[in-house]
Amino acid sequence: MNPNRKIEIKEKSTTIVVFGAVGDLSTQKLIPALFDLYEKDFLPHLFQVIGFSRGARSDADFREYARDAIITRGHKHDPANIERFVKNFHYHAGFFEDSGAYLSLGEELIAFDERLKTCSNKLFYLAVPPASYETILSNLADSGLTIPCSDTKGWTRVLIEKPFGEDIVAAQKLDKLLGLLFREEQIFRIDHYLAKETIQNILSFRFSNILFEPIWNRDYIEKISIRLFETGGVDRRGDFYDGIGAIRDVGQNHALQMLSAIAMENPRVLDPDRIRAGRADVLSSLVPITNNTIKNQVVRGQYKGYTKIRGVAKDSQTETYFNVQVFLRNKRWKGVPFYLEGGKKMGTKKAEISVYFKKTESCLCHPESEQHHQNVLTFRIQPDEGISVVFWAKRPGLGAELDPKMLTFLYKDDVMGSVDAYEKVLYDAIFGDQTLFTSTDEVLSAWKFITPVLKYINEVPLKIYEEGFEGAP
Ligand code: BG6
Repeated sequence: MNPNRKIEIKEKSTTIVVFGAVGDLSTQKLIPALFDLYEKDFLPHLFQVIGFSRGARSDADFREYARDAIITRGHKHDPANIERFVKNFHYHAGFFEDSGAYLSLGEELIAFDERLKTCSNKLFYLAVPPASYETILSNLADSGLTIPCSDTKGWTRVLIEKPFGEDIVAAQKLDKLLGLLFREEQIFRIDHYLAKETIQNILSFRFSNILFEPIWNRDYIEKISIRLFETGGVDRRGDFYDGIGAIRDVGQNHALQMLSAIAMENPRVLDPDRIRAGRADVLSSLVPITNNTIKNQVVRGQYKGYTKIRGVAKDSQTETYFNVQVFLRNKRWKGVPFYLEGGKKMGTKKAEISVYFKKTESCLCHPESEQHHQNVLTFRIQPDEGISVVFWAKRPGLGAELDPKMLTFLYKDDVMGSVDAYEKVLYDAIFGDQTLFTSTDEVLSAWKFITPVLKYINEVPLKIYEEGFEGAP
């Protein structure tokens, strides 16, 4: 942790306004992550969280709500610390479309600043369904709340969650609106996978070890698999999920971001713009899937019982599983297949990337050996975050057989453990580091690739799979 970064964060008073303050995202991720930062002393000395939502609630109600969100996780915390933390919570009732609610929010923000005799930083977090983005963003801009006090004091930033639109046209529209209302350095587009520990580690691992980077290309790598398997189903999100589907939900964003980290060129410096440009280059090099190629490159499925979920159409064709073979048209990766595979109700919960190296020409092993001597490097994002390498060694004894062995690093063995993705998202947004946030180029390139896939998806038969499916062999 950069100590200067912490000092800088601590000394500026900051207000975090959460739209959708009592929604799932806020309850399950944001409030607990803010508390974890507070407990580790990574929040500004002076901060407040304003929950903006339509229901009538008092500050006391909202504090109780926040307290529950922290306690429900079942972690051990000092109750007095939770009390000190929730004292910084305030509630602001208002409809997203009511311009008056933004004006009264502005008055609260001014009152806070007057009490502290300062101009505090302001972070506006849209933890709401995408349908509300336009209304909130326009009202925020119209009310003047996003105007900083000066070039150097009281910055204002907007955080928005994926999905950024549902196809290239909608994404361009949202992007245009954002561009009209805010400067790029004010916009923090969240793809929380980018903030997961092992994903961040991909670049460090690749570019600080000479072992792998020289062979990180089409001459030595046979294929790369990116898997995002969840054991849970769509559950209470039927309304949202049906019509969205797995490709839009996690393929267009999380899986493609995993691909961009694994495939990007060395940005040479730890600079947000260079890193984001590197990821965007990968996404713009994706070979388009067409109506002629889709049948060979895409598999889609739906878990048995999906159409019985509340909010899901009885004859729904929405995919809950996908496996998409993609290629990159650049020198490093030409001809190497990447498999993006994701699904709900799968047999095993896992998010991982496996790099399969080509086999050696001669294994110096027993000629009858049936062993498949291939090195496989795996970045395990969850669960059991870590990195492992399968290598081959001679079996002890008189023969010449080979056995696969494993070199493994597990985060849980490290005293530091790992940091939750939303903690990292909030910490970096407060500091103003956009490295782990997607740029407009990344979002548009990802949509440019995915939109034709969605357009021609009906060419691909929908396979119904049983709960517990283990994916492609
Ligand atoms: C979200 C998707 O972006 O990511 C969800 O909308 C999915 O459907 C979730 O369950 C997975 O995130 P995580 O961090 O739980 O792996």
